[in-house]
Amino acid sequence: MACLGSIVSFALALAVATPALAQDREFRLGLITPPVHVWNQEVAALNDTLSELSDGRLSVTAFPSGQLGSESNMLQQMQTGALDMAWLTTAEITNRLPDMAALHAPFLVDNIADAAKVLRSDEAREILDALPRATGTVGICYAMTGMRQLLTREPVSSSDDLAGLRFRITPAPPIRTFFEMFGAAPAPMPLTQVYDSLANGQIDAIDMDHESIINFGYFDHATNMMETNHHLFGMVALVSARVWAQLSDEDQAIVREAVQIHCDRTIDRFVAEEASKLERLKGVEGLTITEDVGPEFFGDIVERWDAEWAEQTPYVQRLRALVDTF
Ligand code: BEZ
Repeated sequence: MACLGSIVSFALALAVATPALAQDREFRLGLITPPVHVWNQEVAALNDTLSELSDGRLSVTAFPSGQLGSESNMLQQMQTGALDMAWLTTAEITNRLPDMAALHAPFLVDNIADAAKVLRSDEAREILDALPRATGTVGICYAMTGMRQLLTREPVSSSDDLAGLRFRITPAPPIRTFFEMFGAAPAPMPLTQVYDSLANGQIDAIDMDHESIINFGYFDHATNMMETNHHLFGMVALVSARVWAQLSDEDQAIVREAVQIHCDRTIDRFVAEEASKLERLKGVEGLTITEDVGPEFFGDIVERWDAEWAEQTPYVQRLRALVDTF
């Protein structure tokens, strides 16, 4: 008996003295973009970084191309903890958090280097603080998929030509406002449906970035591109708040460090490659590109958009003021 008692005491003492064993964990990460996209390449690299920083304990498996549903579906899955992580557009988040809409202010920046500065600003980081309450997720960092351009089936020479066009947009209120303000008929739909909708004539035009135009070959069916750079198109790297709460402090720190590395690399790659992607598009046979289409093409739309959205979030004015300092 005495012997059993001392074994139990020894085991208890050992349990108290030994820190909880570090857990192995495979995170499931959803994205709407296809495997060729820069985001997906960086998520694949994130798997290696996580593994290195955790001595092989932590890994990430990507579910690309909307395999787990639309961005809205993925956000719901993270809220319940059914999905661990996602790299989602900032546009999707605007459906839950109006402050994020400020990042989609038209002509907030006129070049991609300034877009990177906005995404790395304290103001933008502050917006992430509201994510747990608004979405049940923790926002680790931002990246982007470049600046957005307009691609139309028919040539456009004035803003009047845009009126009435069925324009595919990413489902997001601030983007809808912009397209409604110049008289288009916005058709919100997930990225995964865009190519077929253009091919079958369901839509006349799209709002898209160089990377996706190249990846999907949208110029097969929309042969006119206006280089507007009319808004930056952000991404936010999210972890389910429920999943986050289950991680040790050490693992939270590892995940933060690893994801931040790949947000930064994604931003840097877009800044470095945006001009060469435009050059590549210029080489596409049959694609006509009108360059340097600025805000003046859209009349007073910036003022009107700001007036409407400034009522919903102070970040419109804060980000405009920030950009004035660049
Ligand atoms: C889009 O909805 O247009 C989109 C989403 C993610 C990456 C690129 C484009």
